[in-house]
Amino acid sequence: MSEEKWKLETISVHGGHDPRDDSNSRAVPIHQTTSYVFENVDHAAKLFDLQEAGHIYSRISNRTTEVLENRLALMDGGSGALVVSSGQAAIATAVLNITRSGQNIVSSSHLYGGTHTLFQHTLAKMGIDVRFVDPREPENFAREVDDNTRCMYLETIPNPRNSVADFQAISEIAHDNEIPLMVDGTVTTPYLFHAFKHGVDIVIYSLTKFMAGHGNSLGGAIVDSGNFDWDNGKFPEMTEGDPSYHGISYWETFGDTAFVTKARTQYLRDMGPCISPFNSFLIMQGVETLTLRMERQCENAFKVSRWLEEQPQISWVNYPGLESHPEHELAKKYFNAYGAILSFGVKGGFNEGKKLINSVKMISHLANIGDARTLIIHPASTTHRQLSDDDRKRAGVTDDLIRMSVGLEHPDDIIEDLKGGLCAIR
Ligand SMILES: Cc1ncc(COP(=O)(O)O)c(C=O)c1O
Repeated sequence: MSEEKWKLETISVHGGHDPRDDSNSRAVPIHQTTSYVFENVDHAAKLFDLQEAGHIYSRISNRTTEVLENRLALMDGGSGALVVSSGQAAIATAVLNITRSGQNIVSSSHLYGGTHTLFQHTLAKMGIDVRFVDPREPENFAREVDDNTRCMYLETIPNPRNSVADFQAISEIAHDNEIPLMVDGTVTTPYLFHAFKHGVDIVIYSLTKFMAGHGNSLGGAIVDSGNFDWDNGKFPEMTEGDPSYHGISYWETFGDTAFVTKARTQYLRDMGPCISPFNSFLIMQGVETLTLRMERQCENAFKVSRWLEEQPQISWVNYPGLESHPEHELAKKYFNAYGAILSFGVKGGFNEGKKLINSVKMISHLANIGDARTLIIHPASTTHRQLSDDDRKRAGVTDDLIRMSVGLEHPDDIIEDLKGGLCAIR
């Protein structure tokens, strides 16, 4: 059976790696090398001309990272993937790959704080305008598009807003305007969401979170569906010759992997946000248990959110798996499970919430999600602190919002720790 036909569980442990290509090593070896030896001068020239596939220098590609890239592409059913040093590097690279000064993108306002600042400030300095819209109403995306719009962007389950958008409807609007839909699938992973079956063209991950899963390595990925037709006149950087690469046309030469090949050969070459092979190795260890971890962490998050809903000191709980969640029906339609991120408010607002965060013992108070351990944070004063009050409101990060990323501990122990925190409020 071909790898493409395997189920996600099988791809997660075997995909993209034939031991015969690595000295029969069962585990994928760490190729801790900067450079690769050429067979001769002609071979070197062919590699530099992209006429022959092969590694040159680990800023651009590396054998360990290549296996991770192939595995990620298979997990999503995509045509190719590019792995970089962090989720932020993946987002910046993906957007810059098809935008330039004077152009714009339409993005959901429900975003991780770092993405919001990248879009609002750093891209603005490069002359790229980002138009933020409430993603719960697909028409909002249509209203902001013009001839210079080059993509639509949203997070599958936004961190920490947990809203759910109508992906199919938004992708239709994007495609009617001949632009791709790009999503950040960090919170859902391929376990929860089959992005390419719902009209998404490019999916981006912070591998740092659930994919790696153990809070020990940063990484990011761009996975291309291979479905978008770049030859529609709007993307000359894909179809016309690249003067920085002796006139190559990515679309003509690489077809359905044009997007990731361009990102690799231009942005990894010029900006250098490459991942260490050691991190690729560690992330692959995490990917091997992704499905098991996600299944258990989603179950735990559901149990904890149900328990929180019943506590008199809690004013609200936001988890897409709860029937009280406003987009619960959309979450049911699009996702296999509801994720491991929940948020809630404590009666009395953040002053009371602070007491809870300061009192939990086992749960870690830190700025990350997707660890095997349960994590807690107050986003308004940390991850979303750099946003203005209005932008924070638009991102859905209220002052009383406390975010939890639920881990693999026994749910009774997570609840017991939270009970201790709630006692401090009493
Ligand atoms: C949804 C989402 N996307 C992207 C990122 C950025 O990822 P990284 O920290 O790997 O750069 C984060 C980080 O928290 C995130 O939560």
